[in-house]
Amino acid sequence: MPVDTMLAAEQIQKRVHEMAQAIDRELAGETPVLVAILKGSVHFFSDLARAMETDAELDFMQVSSYHGGKSSTGVVQIRKDLDINVEGRHVVIVEDIVDTGTTLAYLLELLETRHPKSVRVAALLSKTEARVTAVKVDYLGFDIANEFVVGYGLDYDERFRNLPYVGILRDE
Ligand code: PRP
Repeated sequence: MPVDTMLAAEQIQKRVHEMAQAIDRELAGETPVLVAILKGSVHFFSDLARAMETDAELDFMQVSSYHGGKSSTGVVQIRKDLDINVEGRHVVIVEDIVDTGTTLAYLLELLETRHPKSVRVAALLSKTEARVTAVKVDYLGFDIANEFVVGYGLDYDERFRNLPYVGILRDE
């Protein structure tokens, strides 16, 4: 299946560095917990963490709502929970994409019950047009059209995650 480039690798890297600087400015002197939401955020998470000057602890959660298809089911399941106790900590949730907002709304609600000092959200991509549940995104890379995108961590049936760029998957 062909992939048309939407965001080139260089464009992504430039934006990720800008986002890292914005996080550094707000969390200077703190040791936040960066939470990767697996699997899609892996490349963004790794690039963002390394572009930041702020020392951070890294942790991982996996939730699922897509189940391998092209549309969201709206059902969120925890597959892997955090190892770190985030009570009293500054948390930055790192997502590859916010689509309907279902996953992020669920995560924000869940983390609030654990009494963190603050929770911020860094998302590389957002499809504002597709939003069903309103969610705040503190650091956004790119607001994109409501197209099915793959690459830089995003998949279609577990494929295309390794592309260094983000592109639109064509059905043909
Ligand atoms: C994607 C993405 C978000 C969620 C966004 O994950 O990483 O977590 O969907 O969609 P929503 O805003 O409609 O809830 P996915 O379930 O595809 O898992 P993956 O990251 O492992 O591919």
